[in-house]
Amino acid sequence: MEKRNGVHINIKDLTHRYTAKSPITFEKVNIEADPGEALVIIGRSGCGKSTLLHILAGLLEKSSGIVRLDEKDVTEPSSHWIMMFQAPHLFPWMTVEQNVGTGLRFAHWPEKKMKKRIAEVINLVGLDEYAKNNTQDLSGGQQQRVALARSLVMEPDLLLLDEPFSALDAFTRATLQKDVRAISKQLEFNLVMVTHDIDEAVIMADRALVMAGSPGKIVHDFKVDLDDPRERQDPKVQAMRASLMEIFHHAAGVSADDSNMEGDDANQSDIELAGN
Ligand SMILES: Nc1ncnc2c1ncn2[C@@H]1O[C@H](COP(=O)(O)OP(=O)(O)OP(=O)(O)O)[C@@H](O)[C@H]1O
Ligand SMILES: [Mg+2]
Repeated sequence: MEKRNGVHINIKDLTHRYTAKSPITFEKVNIEADPGEALVIIGRSGCGKSTLLHILAGLLEKSSGIVRLDEKDVTEPSSHWIMMFQAPHLFPWMTVEQNVGTGLRFAHWPEKKMKKRIAEVINLVGLDEYAKNNTQDLSGGQQQRVALARSLVMEPDLLLLDEPFSALDAFTRATLQKDVRAISKQLEFNLVMVTHDIDEAVIMADRALVMAGSPGKIVHDFKVDLDDPRERQDPKVQAMRASLMEIFHHAAGVSADDSNMEGDDANQSDIELAGN
């Protein structure tokens, strides 16, 4: 597949409230990112992370402020910026190939070119031997790989991920974290991802942004300066994790009124966040 160069992300004074009567979700959020950079947003439940991602994806209208990707205002969904959700939302009766090709078929790609592209992307996400299988016969992790391939086939400049691996078991989750980061670096597109999981942030981010408060704000912008590939047991990774955890706890202390973080019993780092 062709390399992309990603986009320059410019979010300035972004403020949102759902209705005139609802409280302000977040206010004056400022984020800049370089082409190809991977940002991970962490923060307690309800501080506005998903709302922010939906605005970035052009799925939700902002109240005020600037959201620009390479000087282009984001006002609607586009194949250049694609959102992946926690549930893969595949067509269960279709094969992996057919699911992955949906966007290309919509765009009326010529058959031969389309087949080639689909095969490349399926290979990229490691699903070669499942290409002809119906997606309903795949595991949760494999289905999420199909959803990833379906996003990548459109060659996005920016991939937005809202807790995409939280329904998966720890092992599957860990491999997908590494693979998604590796693919984003190989194809040089930007990632903006939301997670509750500090480990995930350390494995996947170039920068971790901590969001807190009500209305929400970005309270920390933390450079995750680690070489690739990142191994969980590496002392440098462990040290980074400890620093980020401390920052997160500090941020939570700053916004003491915001105590509704949900815990997920299956996940160690979620528990540590929740236990604050
Ligand atoms: N469609 C909506 N209409 C009105 N208020 C909403 C809507 N969606 C979300 N909210 C409110 O906006 C706030 C931010 O919600 P959001 O889903 O962005 O939080 P979040 O940080 O993603 O939380 P979580 O970690 O639980 O996913 C919450 O108080 C929520 O109740
Ligand atoms: Mg959310």
